[in-house]
Amino acid sequence: MRVLVTGAAGFLGSHLCDRFLADGHEVVGMDNFVTGRPENIAHLIGNQRFRFVQHDVTNFMFVDGALDGVLHFASPASPRDYLELPIQTLKVGSLGTHKALGLAKAKRARFLLASTSEVYGDPTVHPQPESYWGNVNPIGPRGVYDEAKRFAEAITMAYRRFHSVDTRIVRIFNTYGPRMRAHDGRVVSNFIVQALAGEPLTMYGDGSQTRSFCYVDDLVDGIVRLFHSAEPDPVNIGNPVEFTVRELAERVLRLTGSKSKIVVEPLPQDDPKVRQPDITRARTLLGWEPKVALEQGLEKAIAYFKRESA
Ligand SMILES: NC(=O)c1ccc[n+]([C@@H]2O[C@H](COP(=O)([O-])OP(=O)(O)OC[C@H]3O[C@@H](n4cnc5c(N)ncnc54)[C@H](O)[C@@H]3O)[C@@H](O)[C@H]2O)c1
Repeated sequence: MRVLVTGAAGFLGSHLCDRFLADGHEVVGMDNFVTGRPENIAHLIGNQRFRFVQHDVTNFMFVDGALDGVLHFASPASPRDYLELPIQTLKVGSLGTHKALGLAKAKRARFLLASTSEVYGDPTVHPQPESYWGNVNPIGPRGVYDEAKRFAEAITMAYRRFHSVDTRIVRIFNTYGPRMRAHDGRVVSNFIVQALAGEPLTMYGDGSQTRSFCYVDDLVDGIVRLFHSAEPDPVNIGNPVEFTVRELAERVLRLTGSKSKIVVEPLPQDDPKVRQPDITRARTLLGWEPKVALEQGLEKAIAYFKRESA
């Protein structure tokens, strides 16, 4: 099998490339490095089954040879990135998804869209099943990401219905692990980096808002299962074990042995107060569930950030 991964130099894209290569497939990685890093794929350079193309996917995409799959992961993903890159985020979700679907159609390849739990916005239903349509503020600052992904899902389904492209949609919930960027503003990397540097941990709001965090290997396993399944409707992949942000901060402090204090800052606008996947569909359709406990995953992520800062 030969697959294209867009966003290959990013956190999730690079792990996905690793997994497809480990499964014996050929991978073409594509990225423009807007939020990704060459270091994430440096270990793949020289691998005969890996090719890298530097390209902005909002422009026409051309790839030599046959493709069996297009996995569309290109998009700024951390709140800090998409608030700094609002137009690029809207463009990659809309124009980029259109171009990636066009390529999948031309190559008769299966298409998998990396969507997000953010399509549920600030949810009024908890936990969130895929049947929930969401509570999104289209004109708030986060709307650029949420609405781009909602559009991406809509155009994916339109290509399925109108052009018979074989599509899959994964709604990814908060994921963490090695290769997250140190200063991308995501809560897990923020806390770890601040704790290791002995700086105060910045907690937004009183820390009572809940999150659930999935370790990257579990997430990639769910995505690969969905890719190989016959399931056309969106599937949530994430870890349903829920923690408050304060609990997470305290756990990071304990695991790093840091003496840092927790400082409280105002909650950003439209920040979801609760977020937990209902993974019934992933369990029943894909036989998937997360295996890595938070403590175990945090230890691996902490070890990565220690190596990075050494
Ligand atoms: N990490 C998470 O917890 C999470 C949660 C939900 C959804 N997702 C989705 O998964 C995907 C990957 O997220 P990530 O966490 O790896 O983010 P990331 O920022 O690490 O990776 C995204 C990659 O896409 C690339 N990219 C962005 N715009 C591009 C463009 N126009 N052309 C080519 N490349 C472009 C970036 O350079 C980067 O390498 C995104 O689509 C994101 O929305 C991630």
